[in-house]
Amino acid sequence: PLACWNGERLPLSEVRVSVLDRGFLFGDAIYEVIRVYSGKPFLFQDHLNRIQRNLEKMSLPADLGSIQRWIEETISASGFVEASVYIHVTRGVAPRTHRFPDPPPTPNVLIYVAAFHDSYSQFRHSGASVVVVPDQRWKRCDIKSVNLLANCFASEMAHQQGCAEALLSDDSGKLSEGSRSSLFGVKDSVVLTAPLGENILPGITRRLIQQLCEECQLEMREETIHQSQLDEIDELFLTATTMEILPVTRVDDQPIGDGQIGPVSRQLVDAYQKHIE
Ligand code: PDD
Repeated sequence: PLACWNGERLPLSEVRVSVLDRGFLFGDAIYEVIRVYSGKPFLFQDHLNRIQRNLEKMSLPADLGSIQRWIEETISASGFVEASVYIHVTRGVAPRTHRFPDPPPTPNVLIYVAAFHDSYSQFRHSGASVVVVPDQRWKRCDIKSVNLLANCFASEMAHQQGCAEALLSDDSGKLSEGSRSSLFGVKDSVVLTAPLGENILPGITRRLIQQLCEECQLEMREETIHQSQLDEIDELFLTATTMEILPVTRVDDQPIGDGQIGPVSRQLVDAYQKHIE
């Protein structure tokens, strides 16, 4: 992978960061993942807008214009055509104190571009199996911060049970999203997804799905799916930048609908495919 470290281009393996970086010490950093199709960053403006909102929520004084330019330059210098871009902005290096250092240090900006590898291809044909796990994350999941330990725990639990993803459930059984994806259900041809709030990430792919639903004349409602409703749900799918749309056919070893990938999921997968062409 090719990296860009505060504007300087170098191989990813050669990037060095201080142990006093607040991203390293506190997870005091935000990140973003962008997919590159045919050499072009997909939904670039939406991702830039989310980076800007995250910088503001974290009071991180990084310059979005430079970040945009570095992303564009790194993609073109990499020569990769099908790729993913990882962007990571930390509060920078300062003596270790919990409060934000005053004056603020210069944020550290890491960008790297890697050739795309579809780690979900084995699940796309028959649909994925997932498990439900308790949501143990903090209460500001709308911020795309690198504090991902609870997400890693959930993902590892899914992996140990041979599943592709973990659905996160609150104490009352409401399913917010996946450990690294947004969650959608289909009931009587209506597409359902949790309303935006501080308990979920405002997914860029989630927004695209809303648009594709309009184009396909599918009704969409912002309504949280409850674990107890799963036996009445016809279809389930997950979305994320590098996952695209992943149909889910089993939850906790129980089939969703008839256990096959449903027609609405297929329609949206096709619409997504047309959108990137
Ligand atoms: N994950 N919810 C969570 C908790 C996520 O981590 C992600 C993305 C999404 C989907 O967001 P988007 O459609 O903007 O990619 C929802 C990224 C890709 C990751 O952590 O690698």
